[in-house]
Amino acid sequence: MAPTQVLASRSCCGTLLLLLLLFFSSLFASSTCQQTAAFSENFAATWGGDRVNILDNQREVVLSMDKISGAGFGSKLTYGSGSFHLKIKLPGNNSAGIVTAYYTSSDQSKSSHDELDMEFLGNVQGKPITLQTNVFTNGEGNREQRVNLWFDPTADFHDYKILWNTYQVVFYVDDTPIRVFANKANKGVSYPNKPMQVIASLWNGEDWATDGGKTKINWSNAPFNAHFQGFSVDGCVLTSPDDNQCASPTLWWNSERYQQLSSSERLAYENVKKNYMTYDYCNDVRRFQTMPLECPQ
Ligand SMILES: *[C@@H]1O[C@H](CO)[C@@H](O)[C@H](O)[C@H]1NC(C)=O
Ligand SMILES: *[C@@H]1O[C@H](CO)[C@@H](O)[C@H](O)[C@H]1NC(C)=O
Repeated sequence: MAPTQVLASRSCCGTLLLLLLLFFSSLFASSTCQQTAAFSENFAATWGGDRVNILDNQREVVLSMDKISGAGFGSKLTYGSGSFHLKIKLPGNNSAGIVTAYYTSSDQSKSSHDELDMEFLGNVQGKPITLQTNVFTNGEGNREQRVNLWFDPTADFHDYKILWNTYQVVFYVDDTPIRVFANKANKGVSYPNKPMQVIASLWNGEDWATDGGKTKINWSNAPFNAHFQGFSVDGCVLTSPDDNQCASPTLWWNSERYQQLSSSERLAYENVKKNYMTYDYCNDVRRFQTMPLECPQ
């Protein structure tokens, strides 16, 4: 579809272009682009009632979890491609059993849903917080990878990003790729292609998240708070999987630069795999009788 459709996706650069066209004032336009969107421009609270706290003129959201409930928010629209990011500061101190999730998902009530997950598995103070990623295509997951982060994610905001185009899915931590799921549809591996919502949540994962479920939540540390910033969305709005405007090469995240990792990204990714990855389903020979098709054979 025409690029005008894309401008409706409320991306920062879309806004910039529109302002340039409307006002011919580059000064005004660039200062507008540096500002991130207000939360309610692209997102809305989805559950947890007053455990979703919107602060600082909608530039920050804090999700809280207590014994009664966690909380979450999601994008108002669904997307068919994009570069989705949020800045997150995880619950501090003793967060064992607490999962902070940032993910994209198509309609989860359908058994054939697509989902791209970043799940931060809390831990007792002083032990590393694990970032687990997973990829669901056509309802099939079981593609976990885990990395230990190289910084304290509870001390500051860091940028977490999910790039999704027709060539690859890349998960980034502060611009360092930590996972690549290449499109191998030509080898019979299904690839996400359904309209997905962008979602963040804070929930009770004590059954599995920390030490395989052995370390439970210490409620004397409640409420647990996860902080979020950066609510601009660079995404192609999509409602029906049959439309194909989201593969358009005019969208920056579909351009050649983003069809595979750059050489410096590849080096950074190798370093993560060597030094920070603690689990890769593709190496789990006990778990799979035959390795999933997308794994290196
Ligand atoms: C951790 O606990 C200390 C002491 O109770 C408190 O001052 C600090 O704010 C807590 N940090 C976070 C991120 O909650
Ligand atoms: C739970 O947290 C409190 C306060 O930080 C601490 O005193 C207590 O020892 C913790 N309980 C367990 C079982 O670790």
